[in-house]
Amino acid sequence: MLYPKDRGSNKRESGSASRRKVSPSAIHNDFPVLFSERQIAERTAEIGRQIDADYAGKSVVLVGVLKGAAIFLSDLARAITVDCTFDFVAVSSYGKGQRTSGAVKLIKDLDQPIEGKNIIIVEDILDTGLTLCFLRSLFEQHKPGSLRVAALLDKPSRRLEKIEADYVGFKIPNHFVVGYGMDYAERFRNVADIRLMPPDYPELH
Ligand code: PRP
Repeated sequence: MLYPKDRGSNKRESGSASRRKVSPSAIHNDFPVLFSERQIAERTAEIGRQIDADYAGKSVVLVGVLKGAAIFLSDLARAITVDCTFDFVAVSSYGKGQRTSGAVKLIKDLDQPIEGKNIIIVEDILDTGLTLCFLRSLFEQHKPGSLRVAALLDKPSRRLEKIEADYVGFKIPNHFVVGYGMDYAERFRNVADIRLMPPDYPELH
């Protein structure tokens, strides 16, 4: 749902590029690859081993934040061997520039109680930290046994809230990225690797 001006340093200029009609699926192969499918798989396997070691003999609940985290969660879940269940939440997702801590709204709650359970919030990207801060304080009210965060990507330079993930795939500069769950106007979530969104890419509707 995020647009380049919100997630990265990319600028949208009005001009011919904005008016061009393109087929999104035809063009993403031109986007530069930031992390290949293989690099993502290797890093996810490492995080999985770390989680296995940290939670040996215990159960965990992976809580995915829809929609971006769905693909990372599905791969991370298969990279861990400790007893594990899934849950999902969704938060409101309008222009990042408009978000304040109070403006993040839960639009899909957890299905199961989390009291006493070992929760790992799974995110595709940790950006300003507003979403995670909101979810962390919300979940803490339900008294989980433990609460950690796994984020595939981390953009520390964008942080507005003091929050860090316990498991981080890759730290990246302020680039707009798509693929592996991450979108531009809901497109490209199904791209297998993580790619850089060209700043002059035309608007999609
Ligand atoms: C992205 C991402 C995180 C959030 C992180 O979601 O999946 O949930 O932004 O940003 P923050 O740290 O600045 O709060 P997005 O709003 O793009 O929705 P989506 O997951 O449906 O793509």
